[in-house]
Amino acid sequence: MKITAAITGVGGYVPDYVLTNQELEQLVDTTDEWITTRTGIKERRILKGKDQGSSVMGIKAVQQLLEKTNTRPEDVELLICATVTPDMLFPATANIISNATGIKNAFSYDMNAACSSFLYALATGAQFIQSGTYKKVVVVGADKMSAIVDYSDRANCIIFGDGAGAVLLEPNTEGYGVLDQVMRTDGSGEPFLHQKAGGSRRPPTVETVAAREHYIYQEGATVFKFAVTNMADVAAQVMARQQLSHDDIAWLVPHQANKRIIDATANRMGVGPDKVMLNIQRYGNTTSATIPLCLWDYEKQLRKGDNLILAAFGGGFTWGAVHVKWAYNS
Ligand code: UT7
Repeated sequence: MKITAAITGVGGYVPDYVLTNQELEQLVDTTDEWITTRTGIKERRILKGKDQGSSVMGIKAVQQLLEKTNTRPEDVELLICATVTPDMLFPATANIISNATGIKNAFSYDMNAACSSFLYALATGAQFIQSGTYKKVVVVGADKMSAIVDYSDRANCIIFGDGAGAVLLEPNTEGYGVLDQVMRTDGSGEPFLHQKAGGSRRPPTVETVAAREHYIYQEGATVFKFAVTNMADVAAQVMARQQLSHDDIAWLVPHQANKRIIDATANRMGVGPDKVMLNIQRYGNTTSATIPLCLWDYEKQLRKGDNLILAAFGGGFTWGAVHVKWAYNS
């Protein structure tokens, strides 16, 4: 009997503070019109307050997930936190989330694949279920992008926002859940999207801070081109392997980086706009949280048996697509 990893619940959390395009107009030389037409974003959420890290949002998303799915925290066996903005370089944010949510009998670790982090973590977590090793795995994507965004860089500060989303994975023997995945990495993409300092190559110094090297560096137009081609390519590969035509797809769940990337990907897959999950207009690019936050927002519209293609592209470069057969009606 083949075991698959079904997604059996979704939790999410976004902070209260809304950063609008109008407020960004006060910070940098931009306009609501430019941001809306070039990215599709109208507002994003920002986590304010002293000493507030990504875990604050991850904890809330996981707490909601455990409540919604009636899961006792002590029954969770593994928690993976997808994040590029960990509370600290160590210990892992996953450990902080597990501790705060009462997940005491699990092991937990962080996974960083930039904007593909959630898909990498989902694909990895699913393996522990498929192999029969574990019965309850939590995958949480949490990012406080505002911690590494340069609010004087008009090309980048307009895109990113903060948030967290989480899913529960449990075994299924009826063919629901994570059914296939194509994951890719190309390290030659490093020059186009990275954070220059703060790691072991360039530890923090007065000079690195003065040079604003602890912020996201992105050559947006280059990343944009790679994102469009690669996201659509892996999605097409998964669809071909699973013998799915565009008519068989109920939902495309794309990483929310730029509405134009999402539109181009959907176009190349032959999927109409009514089948594309979209919340970028409200949250911007929350990196590891975009895909679970889409599932969170659209959960009520999802039906048991729906074919979902989850697709992402991010720094590294990293990218991937996952085929999920949805396991429940909510
Ligand atoms: O999520 C992980 C992966 N990341 C992505 O997928 C992001 C991919 N990239 C993008 O979404 C886009 O490249 C950006 C939104 C970051 C930038 O949009 P773009 O259309 O690629 O703009 P650009 O950087 O090529 O700049 C075009 C023009 C430039 O002016 P000139 O040189 O043509 O006069 C920029 O200075 O737009 C200007 N510009 C702006 N103007 C007003 C850049 N940012 C802004 C702005 N407001 N905020």
